[in-house]
Amino acid sequence: MNKPIIGSHIIELKQTASTNVYTDKLLHSEKPEEGTVIIAYKQTKGKGQDQNTWESEANKNLTFSIILYPEFLNPSEQFRLIELTSLGIIDFIKTLITTDKEIRIKWPNDIYIGDQKLCGTLVQNSIVGSELTECIIGIGLNVNQEKFLSDAPNPVSLKQITGVSYKLHQCLKDLCSCIDKRYYQLKNKQYAQLETDYLSLLYRINEMHDFIIHEDKVRATITGITKYGQLKLESIEHKIYECGMKEVVYCL
Ligand code: BTN
Repeated sequence: MNKPIIGSHIIELKQTASTNVYTDKLLHSEKPEEGTVIIAYKQTKGKGQDQNTWESEANKNLTFSIILYPEFLNPSEQFRLIELTSLGIIDFIKTLITTDKEIRIKWPNDIYIGDQKLCGTLVQNSIVGSELTECIIGIGLNVNQEKFLSDAPNPVSLKQITGVSYKLHQCLKDLCSCIDKRYYQLKNKQYAQLETDYLSLLYRINEMHDFIIHEDKVRATITGITKYGQLKLESIEHKIYECGMKEVVYCL
């Protein structure tokens, strides 16, 4: 058995603006052990993707950051960190939920149940020279929240799906263990397994849908992911696209 890394040290905060910001500052003053988790029971200024804020009611959800030092990865392969995190989160959710609705990864790293968002991830990497020196993986998983107030289009929590109230400590422990197993796969270069699993869980893969690509509405099918983590699509007119994070919007 490999020694677990992720979650072996936990820093608990009653409140902070954002665990990612807190972790970033911490990394400027010390080098915590790899796998250290910083969890806050209340975030006053949680950060989402694209400068959005992340809504999370105090004491109801998991909002935490994980510190990794993935120096073994080439910076060009940083998408693998997003990949393993998304897979670890889904592994965990599948231990709690059996639903007819599909649990999927909306590229690059939103976790969806049906057409609703259960979990968001914000990964911040530091690259020095040609080395990926530090990675902060911020995770917001909606657990027990029952009402969402912000204008986020489609949030949902585990409790809203199952009716069960979950213990946050246990969820954190189990979720870290699932992500740890996927990190172990990454460290052991089981790239093909991670890629196959990621693709098999990709939201809307091989289905025709509308997207906004470079500001144009395009009817297209997601066909895969490039080795740098871009989304590959083929339009109904057989035009091929490889899109980075800000170049494609799903029409939901
Ligand atoms: C998204 O917009 O989907 C990403 C949301 C990420 C939210 C988490 S909550 C813990 C960590 N700290 C933050 O400020 N953001 C991330």
